[in-house]
Amino acid sequence: MKTLIICASRYGSTMEIGHWIAQRLPWNNVDIFRVEKAPEPDKYELIILGGGVYNEQVNKRIVQYVKTHPAGLSEKKIVAFAVCLDTCGVYMKGKFFGGWLYLKPLLEALETCPPVYAGVLSGEINPKTLSDKDRGLLMHFYNKILKRDIDEVPYRTLMNKPEVWKFVEKILVRLKGQF
Ligand SMILES: Cc1cc2nc3c(=O)[nH]c(=O)nc-3n(C[C@H](O)[C@H](O)[C@H](O)COP(=O)(O)O)c2cc1C
Repeated sequence: MKTLIICASRYGSTMEIGHWIAQRLPWNNVDIFRVEKAPEPDKYELIILGGGVYNEQVNKRIVQYVKTHPAGLSEKKIVAFAVCLDTCGVYMKGKFFGGWLYLKPLLEALETCPPVYAGVLSGEINPKTLSDKDRGLLMHFYNKILKRDIDEVPYRTLMNKPEVWKFVEKILVRLKGQF
């Protein structure tokens, strides 16, 4: 099943997860691209779209890709995923935050060609790779919102290959052996 994996990844974890997905697919004709270099979807049967989450939203570039290729994506098998730290979300003071909400803009863009499967997968934050702007945003989040008292963004990884492979196994079930 000719497959295109497109990853909108600022710091690399979504891209790494894209490669883990490719490893677990039981066929060889899989192409994987960063969204900036992604080809048209027309030649592919299965298109897997993933984006990192920043400030409570999946990477806008993957949403933009969907919006610029409506015809090429229609009638295709599609999978969508987001990569973040808060994969479950939380209910607080009458509102729901995180988890699936992050993926909403991408799922809404795919309204006319709904994915066969979608998920929210665990990523990481590595302070060594952050831009000054993102470091500032995260320091604000930790110290002003979470009321911590820290001098540096902490390294945190939840990257989890078994979780990603389980995600692929669910995709295979949804494809009902038609690959
Ligand atoms: C500026 C910034 C904002 C982030 N905001 C969130 C957030 O709102 N919720 C969350 O769960 N993770 C958040 N994260 C964590 C990222 O989703 C995580 O680092 C992800 O693995 C990034 O993917 P990438 O490495 O492909 O860029 C944020 C990370 C950065 C750098």
